[in-house]
Amino acid sequence: MKLKKSALNVLISAGPTREFIDPVRFISNSSTGTFGYLLAKTAKQLGHNIVLLMGPSNFKPIPGIETINFISALDLKKQMDDYFDWADCIICSAAVGDFRPVIRAKHKIKKNQMMARIKLRPNPDILKALGKKKKNKILVGFALESENLLKNAQAKLKAKNLDLIIANQIDSDKNPFGSGLTNAYLIDSADFKQYDNISKAKLVRIILDRISSL
Ligand code: CTP
Repeated sequence: MKLKKSALNVLISAGPTREFIDPVRFISNSSTGTFGYLLAKTAKQLGHNIVLLMGPSNFKPIPGIETINFISALDLKKQMDDYFDWADCIICSAAVGDFRPVIRAKHKIKKNQMMARIKLRPNPDILKALGKKKKNKILVGFALESENLLKNAQAKLKAKNLDLIIANQIDSDKNPFGSGLTNAYLIDSADFKQYDNISKAKLVRIILDRISSL
């Protein structure tokens, strides 16, 4: 593997968020954190300095990588803000929940009270907030879409002021998270490229090469 001449400080978020309803129940998603974990591992091998913000997952910390765990979107936002000044490049691969319960009940809610008790409020869009203050930092996001993949991902790139976005189509019969082959677009403000049936390891190398060239 070619070693990078100038190492970047790369802040990576990975994995799902959990938004607790009561002490035992939460709202989450099926992200495994695989992609962000691979990105962190490979970027480290390329000589970059990495801080990995990791949601609930089964991955063990990678030696030489500072790994900080988060649970909720608000935890993640705080950690992103804490490391913002340090980072030259921020890659938001975490699957951030868009909503959280207004109140986290102290006691387990009885099932017959559940429907009346759960009220949701929106979480902040962490990536969008980073895009507003990014200046010359490299900001990379992801887009998961069920339809109009390219168009929706290009709109996210613009709305969140990103340098690069990786877009994945959600097929109803296939988990978009996990370790299999994937289809993806790599999109910047000028151009896009499509990759079909590519391994996540290969895609990660392509993304990191692109980041180095930005
Ligand atoms: N993201 C974020 N904060 C949120 C939601 C998303 O930082 N509250 C980030 C994700 O980490 C990802 C990108 O925004 O890099 C796009 O996430 P995605 O779920 O595809 O899109 P949303 O912005 O949530 O929009 P929608 O759910 O309407 O497609």
